[in-house]
Amino acid sequence: MDTILRAEHIRKTYGASSVPVDALNGIDLAFAKGKFYSIIGRSGSGKSTLLHILSGLDAPTEGKVYFEGKDLSEYSDRQMAIFRRRHMGFVFQQYNLMEEYNVLENICMPVKLDQRKPDPGFLHTVLETLGLLDKQEKYACQLSGGEQQRVAIARSVLSKPKIIFADEPTGNLDKKTAFETLELLMESAKKFGQTLIMVTHDLEAARMSEEVITIEDGKVIS
Ligand SMILES: Nc1ncnc2c1ncn2[C@@H]1O[C@H](COP(=O)(O)OP(=O)(O)OP(=O)(O)O)[C@@H](O)[C@H]1O
Ligand SMILES: [Mg+2]
Repeated sequence: MDTILRAEHIRKTYGASSVPVDALNGIDLAFAKGKFYSIIGRSGSGKSTLLHILSGLDAPTEGKVYFEGKDLSEYSDRQMAIFRRRHMGFVFQQYNLMEEYNVLENICMPVKLDQRKPDPGFLHTVLETLGLLDKQEKYACQLSGGEQQRVAIARSVLSKPKIIFADEPTGNLDKKTAFETLELLMESAKKFGQTLIMVTHDLEAARMSEEVITIEDGKVIS
């Protein structure tokens, strides 16, 4: 297997207080390049925590994450920020859109920050597929939750990252839009050899992935 990302003995304990929470209890996983994974499990089982650690947004209490063999804990904060911008795409439960920028500016932001130019043809395809062509000038406050989610997805896809991390990317979308959105994510992933790691409650969405990882109480059970 051509491994792009590997998690080794990951533990995560939140809170140094008298009631610490063990969110992850020893996770070992390897992700193959270009494959589509979904992570399922009950609310509070540790899915978002795992995604944050795999993407280097948060550090594990114990264990290591390797991206293409490189130990993420060796990066400085600044190196990590650049690394994430260049190689990783994110779609979160909260959309994290920038209020003071319009849809188009939000979508193009990671590419621009990386001193690259968005590919106009691809930009059009992404906007069209996600139904955002007529929303480019709008601001986050003028969009519905589903529309904001589609903007976040467009933003994650446009920079053609090596890995896309998605936390409930279709949670706020109706069935048809959810399906089309996943299709776009998968299409993009295939086209650019991207690895897709998606957390979902939706078993139907999980079924579209190539491998399902089930988490229970901070452990992988299958
Ligand atoms: N910042 C935090 N501080 C303290 N505890 C936290 C924090 N984030 C998560 N937790 C706890 O860690 C555990 C796992 O949370 P996590 O958000 O990873 O679950 P999840 O599987 O993503 O749930 P959901 O499906 O509801 O999004 C929960 O018990 C949660 O209360
Ligand atoms: Mg979560």
